[in-house]
Order: sequence, then C-alpha cells, then structure tokens
Amino acid sequence: MAVMASGRGTNLEALLEAFPPQNPWGEVVLVLSDNPEAYALKRASRRGVEALAIPWRGRKAFEREALDLLRARNVDLVLLAGFMRLLSPGFVEPWYGRLLNIHPSLLPDYPGLHVHRRVLEAGERETGSTVHFVDQGMDTGPIVLQGRVPVLPGDTPETLERRVLFLEHRLYPKAVRLVLSGLAFPPGDGLKALLGEA
Ligand code: GRF
Repeated sequence: MAVMASGRGTNLEALLEAFPPQNPWGEVVLVLSDNPEAYALKRASRRGVEALAIPWRGRKAFEREALDLLRARNVDLVLLAGFMRLLSPGFVEPWYGRLLNIHPSLLPDYPGLHVHRRVLEAGERETGSTVHFVDQGMDTGPIVLQGRVPVLPGDTPETLERRVLFLEHRLYPKAVRLVLSGLAFPPGDGLKALLGEA
C-alpha cells in the first residue's frame, strides 16, 4: 500500500500502526506528499517507511511522478489521508477501485473544506467520517464504510475535529481490511469479486 498525505498525518500514523511491516494484510511501503514540510513524512521516516515529497509544480508533473513511483514499488492500494489536492481522471481512472479517501463527514453531506465549522453552523446533532473509493469528483465515489459520532452542546470546530479524528483512526484501517479482503468493492465489480477476479 501507499499513503498520500499533505499535512500532519495522524491518519497515516494509524495506518502505519495497523499495517506494520510483515503483517498478513499487506504493508505500507511508500508515503508520498505534495508538501515537503508535511509532518506525515517525518512520521513515516521514523517508522522506517520510505517517505518522498514530490513538490507541487502542477498536477501533470506531480501525477506523472507519483504514478511512476507507485508502479515501481508494486503498490496495489493507494490511501489518501489528508491529501489536499484533487487528482485528475488520468490518475483516478487506472486506480479506480484501488484508491481510497477518508473524509471527516457523513458523505454525501459536507464534502469539501471546513467541515466541522459547517456542521456546527447547520446545528447537526450527529456527524462522522466516511471512507470511500475515489472517483473523479471531490469527496464523491462509492462508500466503503462510515462511522458516526455525536455533536455535543458546547462543541467547537476543534473539539469536534478531535472526536472525529479519534473515530477516523479506527475507521480507516477497518475500511482498508474490508477492501483487502474483497468484502468491499465498487458497484459493478460484484461479479468479478464473486469469481475471485477482483
Ligand atoms: C482528516 O480529518 C481526514 O478525514 C481529512 O483530512 C484530515 C487529515 O488529518 N481528509 P491527518 O493529517 O490525518 O491528521
């Protein structure tokens, strides 16, 4: 597996912990970032996982380099974890079904940025997180797994973010195991999965 992250990388850390070297599910062999300053890169290096920055010089150049690296490292599954760039169809299409993202809301509600603030402003009583297959939209694509947490009186975007992150660190590894075991697949791939070809 490879993880792509742009920032602090707490979800990356949870994935590295859940899928350490030699574990039977599969290991994270590569961490890629568009941001050379991303703390995620340090987390990966600390655990001895190859961590590379591809500084952003435009989508085309980034994606070409990333695709080459994924191929060179024999990656089967790519996990976006706080990766803040939209990927083009040229990247998403060949990886469809093997490219996941985590988003801190109950999709399809609240795609995009500033989710916790918007959830609070809307007076929601409940929020959560979603792991989904990536398609060509932003925070769209078939859902693999969702988890829910309450919105509590007095919550701020920060307290809500903390509660959702705690959930995410458990949710993402679970969703990855569902995909790795063939129990979750994009619509249309059901027959292939049944026949063991997915
Ligand atoms: C998470 O809330 C994730 O759902 C979203 O970005 C945040 C990344 O946090 N896509 P971290 O970098 O994993 O701590």
